[in-house]
Amino acid sequence: MDKKISVKVCLGTTCFVMGSANLQELIEMVPKKYGEKVEVSGVPCLGLCSIDWEFSKAPYVKVDDDVVKEATVEKVLKAIDDKLAIQNKQ
Ligand code: FES
Repeated sequence: MDKKISVKVCLGTTCFVMGSANLQELIEMVPKKYGEKVEVSGVPCLGLCSIDWEFSKAPYVKVDDDVVKEATVEKVLKAIDDKLAIQNKQ
């Protein structure tokens, strides 16, 4: 059974300042590209920026339970593709 992949784009202040504004295009792009298979949403602070603050790797995006640090559109799409490839093998 295919399980939906959930993508959470952090739109909290730290991530926003560090560039997650650019990631908002994922919210439109992902459903167009992957349809039903992937669910994408913008979420408030994931709580990762405060843990990792000293070496801040914001913006963060979560793809299921995996954290994409210093996220870019390309990195997130790659993470989704990797997950789908794993699912397809099962
Ligand atoms: S603002 Fe993104 S993890 Fe805190």
